[in-house]
Amino acid sequence: MMRFSKRDFLRSVAGIGALSAFRPALASPTGFWEDIRAAYGVTDSFIQLENGYYSLASNEVLEPYLRHIQDINKVSSYYMRTRQADDKLASRTAVAELLGCGPEELIITRNTTESLDTIISGIDWKAGDEAIMAGQDYGAMLDMFRLMSRRHGIVNKVLSIPNQGISDDELVRLYESAITPKTRLLMVCHLINITGRIMPVRQITEMAHRHGVEVLVDGAHAFAHLDFRIADLGGCDYYGSSLHKWLGTPLGAGLLYVRKDKIRGIWPLFGDSSFADDDIRKLNHTGTHPVATDLAI
Ligand SMILES: Cc1ncc(COP(=O)(O)O)c(C=O)c1O
Repeated sequence: MMRFSKRDFLRSVAGIGALSAFRPALASPTGFWEDIRAAYGVTDSFIQLENGYYSLASNEVLEPYLRHIQDINKVSSYYMRTRQADDKLASRTAVAELLGCGPEELIITRNTTESLDTIISGIDWKAGDEAIMAGQDYGAMLDMFRLMSRRHGIVNKVLSIPNQGISDDELVRLYESAITPKTRLLMVCHLINITGRIMPVRQITEMAHRHGVEVLVDGAHAFAHLDFRIADLGGCDYYGSSLHKWLGTPLGAGLLYVRKDKIRGIWPLFGDSSFADDDIRKLNHTGTHPVATDLAI
């Protein structure tokens, strides 16, 4: 199975086939960063320090992406009706390999928001069910939980995570302290965007599972940034990320992982009767979609 590493990535963006050829550049910090810079069409008008919103795509990504747009534009619906499904499966399979799961547990979405909100809105909530999250979690997901509270009467328990001076064990105990017999879901951010804190997801998942609570992980800033596989996360139930952040795909690509045995329990946002209840593709019907993004993955 393919294993993603930063070294592979740097070698690929620098367009250098053999690592030995890259060594002199690594030895010289100036040459190294010049090579990286040359791989991107960066503006000269200011210095971009915010790459967490989304990462600009490297030239190596941008050029085939633009070609895909032009090629598909020439054949339009013929492409959609003949090759779209196979090509999408190839992209799903590649991303699934990076995450360390099978394509039957992963779909390509538009972004983390779509991935996580699909789960938050897709659970068969009952009034009084409880969900645990943190005030430091991303606003769009907190909003979705608020909506579920208004719509289904769920109770949201919002923790406050200290910005510093808290150990992993203390974090696990903090989440555990909010669990009651009514808790159904715990959402945790893999890498908190505000502080950069890497959360002990495996320990939190194992603890939550001991209490029968499902775990949803916000991996917006972790996938293709931290070196991990889904198996390292203690069997988390759901994982969402954006590919246009640290993987550097064109805008509008994300992933949603749903553990095989959990797919059946999630209601899709858009109806699609062509897939069985335990087929993850039931969660992936968004209508006509800019397929060149999927191809560029
Ligand atoms: C922690 C976290 N989660 C989710 C998101 C949402 O990502 P997207 O807008 O790509 O859906 C972000 C965006 O920066 C984020 O920082």
